Amino acid sequence: MIFDSHAHYDDEAFDEDREELLSSLADAGVGTVVNVGASLEGVRRTVELTEKYPFIYGAAGVHPDEVGALNEETFEWLKEQCGRKKIVAVGEIGLDYYWDREDRSIQKEWFVRQLRMAKELELPVIIHSREAAADTFEILKQEKTPELPMVMHCYSYSPEMAKEYLKMGFYLGIGGVLTFKNGKKLKETVAEAPIERLLLETDCPYLAPVPYRGKRNDSRKLTLVAEELGRIKGISAEEVIRITEENARRFFRLEQEERL
Ligand code: NI
Repeated sequence: MIFDSHAHYDDEAFDEDREELLSSLADAGVGTVVNVGASLEGVRRTVELTEKYPFIYGAAGVHPDEVGALNEETFEWLKEQCGRKKIVAVGEIGLDYYWDREDRSIQKEWFVRQLRMAKELELPVIIHSREAAADTFEILKQEKTPELPMVMHCYSYSPEMAKEYLKMGFYLGIGGVLTFKNGKKLKETVAEAPIERLLLETDCPYLAPVPYRGKRNDSRKLTLVAEELGRIKGISAEEVIRITEENARRFFRLEQEERL
């Protein structure tokens, strides 16, 4: 079944019909969702979702746009949340020089501190990086250890840089952008990357695949991304869904968990 490795169902875009939508996912072939907290409030709401829905797991971290909310006290709280059983990753964390909402030095400082927290807790990491290719790479080169799985969420850099990340053991998160007309760079990256290192992700409510581009996204629409990925790799969408589910279970260390 479809494994959505990156969703934001805590987003207000789902306030009207969250329960109805989440209850309909299984019938649409969606088996597992990792809801990703991006702010302190997002983490709190992610924990709630993981408690309410058996098929939802969570990631806890503070996005570079939101790191202004971190201090010793809130960081300690975040660490406690990471200790919860259904929190399976730290994320999304990283650098965002597109919005540049927080000072770059502060973004870097909290990126590194959250990476080290993940190492300490032995949790996989979800990386957000936008228009910050060089600094992200430099930090990750220093901080990545072979034991700690990491995914470049919504991978948006060059196919050449993807090779460097793959060499370092990274996974790549692939979503709706793969179906966009201007997604040529990503198609090239995906064509060259081993399928065992790809994870399907929506980033919903954002980044809906064609023909829903610009509309609200949800995990059911990942079938369209799987079809496109299958076309590129010369396999069926079903195969893509099966392999990427295995990948995600390995990545988030859910292999031993009972299938839901
Ligand atoms: Ni996201």
